[in-house]
Amino acid sequence: MKVGFIGAGKVGCSLYDYFVHNNILVTGCYTRTQANVSGTEKQTQKIFTTSIDKILTKSDVLFLTVPDDAISTVWEQVKTYPIQGKFICHCSGSLGSAVLSGIEATGAYGYSIHPMFPFKSKKTAYEDLAQALFSVEGNEEHMEEIMDLLSACPNRIVRLKSEDKPKYHAAAVFASNLAVGLINQAKELLNECGFDDEAALNALKPLAVTNMNNIFDVGTCDALTGPVERHDIKTVQKHLDAIDQEKKETYSALTKEIIKLAETRHPDVSYADMKHVLEEVK
Ligand SMILES: NC(=O)c1ccc[n+]([C@@H]2O[C@H](COP(=O)([O-])OP(=O)(O)OC[C@H]3O[C@@H](n4cnc5c(N)ncnc54)[C@H](OP(=O)(O)O)[C@@H]3O)[C@@H](O)[C@H]2O)c1
Repeated sequence: MKVGFIGAGKVGCSLYDYFVHNNILVTGCYTRTQANVSGTEKQTQKIFTTSIDKILTKSDVLFLTVPDDAISTVWEQVKTYPIQGKFICHCSGSLGSAVLSGIEATGAYGYSIHPMFPFKSKKTAYEDLAQALFSVEGNEEHMEEIMDLLSACPNRIVRLKSEDKPKYHAAAVFASNLAVGLINQAKELLNECGFDDEAALNALKPLAVTNMNNIFDVGTCDALTGPVERHDIKTVQKHLDAIDQEKKETYSALTKEIIKLAETRHPDVSYADMKHVLEEVK
């Protein structure tokens, strides 16, 4: 099957190159802004077009790699063309294929195909992207065909139920975006101790990266270290006394979470006193 894209952003451009690298036939990418660019973009040999019609005619599978808020608008345009038998996919983690409203009447098949990966540029390295999970949700009748297409890539692929998409996406946000918020609060605390941003991030990196690796090597329970795991209540109290209200709330919410892990690890220890200290955080 031949694949075309609408939207030459981070995901569209990265998946374009990745599919070509994995011997999937790519017809090109519809773009509102990239057609006339030169230099680096041209060197990627991508075919850009400003005609949706051209991309649609040449493609069996169309990826709408536009921002979530633009998917339904672009779909309204796409559905005005003859698209019977085509596969229409978007890459949103939170939206399901239902955003392609009325697709049954067009004779096309709708899917959400989400790479669980943070694309921060249009040139994601193949070896990084190969580690990402692809989740697929959509038309059950033609699921095998779309799975076959994706199986050209080395990625792990899972099928998702549409009702699970919001929770699935929240999980991705916890592990990725919210981790940014957490590290930012850690950085701000070091700023208050006189570290500039660069020094703070350099200080935190070995701690955070090693800890992340531990989590994925041994699991969340066994990776847990620190004052909660040691049941060191005075240290927890000192932290709470030293930090501002906003950070207290983050600290308290996440400490409650890791107490659950500590309780599993040390069933003989009572964490009731620590929970009580946290309850006092309003
Ligand atoms: N970034 C991530 O980490 C990530 C990860 C997984 C999934 N996703 C999903 O992938 C999709 C694309 O995200 P992205 O990060 O690639 O976004 P992006 O970098 O902002 O690119 C989106 C592209 O869509 C086009 N576009 C923007 N507004 C449009 C509109 N109103 N109508 C038509 N085209 C429009 C633009 O391309 P042209 O200038 O070429 O028209 C733009 O470059 C989203 O559904 C997102 O949820 C993102």
